[in-house]
Amino acid sequence: ELSPIDKAKFVAAKRAVDFVEDGMRVGLGTGSTAAWMVRCLGEMVREDGLKIKGVPTSTRTADLAREVGIEVISLDEAKWLDVTIDGADEFDGDLNLIKGGGGALLQEKIVATASDQMIVITDASKEVEHLGAFPLPIEVIPFGWQTTKSLVEEMLISMDVMGRDSTLRMNGDHPYVTDEGNHILDLHLGRIGNARQLSLVLNQVPGVVENGLFVDICDVVILGFADGKVETRD
Ligand code: A5P
Repeated sequence: ELSPIDKAKFVAAKRAVDFVEDGMRVGLGTGSTAAWMVRCLGEMVREDGLKIKGVPTSTRTADLAREVGIEVISLDEAKWLDVTIDGADEFDGDLNLIKGGGGALLQEKIVATASDQMIVITDASKEVEHLGAFPLPIEVIPFGWQTTKSLVEEMLISMDVMGRDSTLRMNGDHPYVTDEGNHILDLHLGRIGNARQLSLVLNQVPGVVENGLFVDICDVVILGFADGKVETRD
């Protein structure tokens, strides 16, 4: 028996895999909601003979995909994807997203951008009026990360955001390390006025590899509820 939150994630995932057809190259997102989608696709591969190739967005997702029987290829082998299905930490009315709570934002953004379509699956708790209550993750290279942090905080003063504090994401006593060997700074912004501008400016700071704002990338959000109901936003 699934918990209410898992039920909501599961029904969203279940609806999303309806979009996947034979022969497709599919971007596989990261996180607990995306994991349901990977399990659903695996079942379709094993039981219905669905023929797909999957491009995972993290080592975690790659392991799970192989485990459930999905053929895994690299993005460079795939070259272009038909669809990517992924979770999100927040989405707004324009379907702009904050991602990276799970630390996989860099590969997630590359994969989603290389896809004809990005479908986001979430439970209702991720829908917001304004992005920014969820701390915005940015991936920074380890070299000089404290200098990068200061530069980012200085830059935020001039931007349309409420807060400018950032914290280095930790994994126990050590800085969290991404699949690409980088660190994550979580920016506590409170409210983001102009997501597009903020995203562009953040990526101008030396040492910042990528940020977790997905602007104009997501095409549809599939929202699951604990009672099994599903809504879409597009
Ligand atoms: C992973 O880096 C994130 O972008 C995830 O998409 C996000 O954290 C959603 O995860 P859950 O589905 O576990 O909430």
